[in-house]
Amino acid sequence: MEKYRALVVRENEEGSFSKGVELVDQGFLPANDVLIKVKYAALNYKDALSASGHKGVSRFYPHTPGVDACGIVEEDKSGRFEPGQAVICTSYDLGMNTKGGFAEYISVPAEWIVPLPEKMSLKEAMIMGTAAYTAALALYKMENNGQRPAMGPIMVTGASGGVGSMAVAILKKAGYEVLASSGKQEAVGYLLSIGAKEVLDRSAVNDESGRPLLRSEWAGAIDNVGGNTLVTLLKKCGRNGSVATIGLVDRAEFDMSIYPFILNGVNLLGIDSAETPMNIRTLVWEKLAQEWRPDHLEEIASFCSLEEIPAQMDLILNGKTKGRVVAEM
Ligand SMILES: NC(=O)c1ccc[n+]([C@@H]2O[C@H](COP(=O)([O-])OP(=O)(O)OC[C@H]3O[C@@H](n4cnc5c(N)ncnc54)[C@H](OP(=O)(O)O)[C@@H]3O)[C@@H](O)[C@H]2O)c1
Repeated sequence: MEKYRALVVRENEEGSFSKGVELVDQGFLPANDVLIKVKYAALNYKDALSASGHKGVSRFYPHTPGVDACGIVEEDKSGRFEPGQAVICTSYDLGMNTKGGFAEYISVPAEWIVPLPEKMSLKEAMIMGTAAYTAALALYKMENNGQRPAMGPIMVTGASGGVGSMAVAILKKAGYEVLASSGKQEAVGYLLSIGAKEVLDRSAVNDESGRPLLRSEWAGAIDNVGGNTLVTLLKKCGRNGSVATIGLVDRAEFDMSIYPFILNGVNLLGIDSAETPMNIRTLVWEKLAQEWRPDHLEEIASFCSLEEIPAQMDLILNGKTKGRVVAEM
């Protein structure tokens, strides 16, 4: 391979950013041990930030975003993987300051790679991708802190997004009653079909009363939104429940008293999918291949080409996507 096709984001002289598919030399890739021919790459909120020049995500341009990729090993200088082996590579620095999955090839360290679990296709792995992995990691951590289906329902916010959809489907599969909060009236039928018992409007998880504690309405929560949504989730969480904080599509900051923690024993759990140790990463992927494998994967997914990614990024930034968007190379 001397040249390959990649989505390239360039910083222009006046500080604006442009993006398009280009034919680039192999030297555009970093010189890591494992060269992978990408079959599928999934689109995430973080990729939309990287593609629009958000220096908190990607500092160096020209750059190829894409934190989620899977494909076939072409070459491994470390000797850990066989040519022809199907593998998954998500998070770590992929798509951030390492050229990412929106390309025909990636070059990554062997330590970042998970072999494709048995009973999972490459296509399924990317429909799930970082979104399902992160949602499953949240449930893994919640259960390690005592969360159980018998305690009551789990609320998922930003539910029609990638992580939210996967959280709904995984919780349902794991035996939980699932409440979903969404800003999209048109997503109600979709969320019920993938496992939600009830869908609430976003405003129901945005308490403005200023009261330090509220009557409990859920036994735990998975939050993609941050800000006052996270505050409301904590104030309305039942005794000894866990609230996993994943995302910040509204705000990164939040302001509240400590009463939910010291009077109700509520746990606030931080979820960092990018740097999870490999033993936990492999275990969570195995759960996704088996007992937590979401039903309705095809309903959660839509597909696009490499050329269609820029238009999809705009939809993500405007909160307009539903479920998971997967690019087929
Ligand atoms: N911690 C980690 O390791 C980790 C891993 C992956 C992703 N994340 C983060 O998780 C978040 C979700 O990622 P994603 O890929 O699922 O994004 P996404 O597909 O774009 O979904 C985000 C969803 O949030 C809701 N939303 C959008 N704007 C909102 C607003 N202003 N207020 C409230 N809700 C809003 C929308 O759902 P509704 O219309 O249904 O409300 C939207 O579909 C992002 O912040 C991402 O950076 C973190």
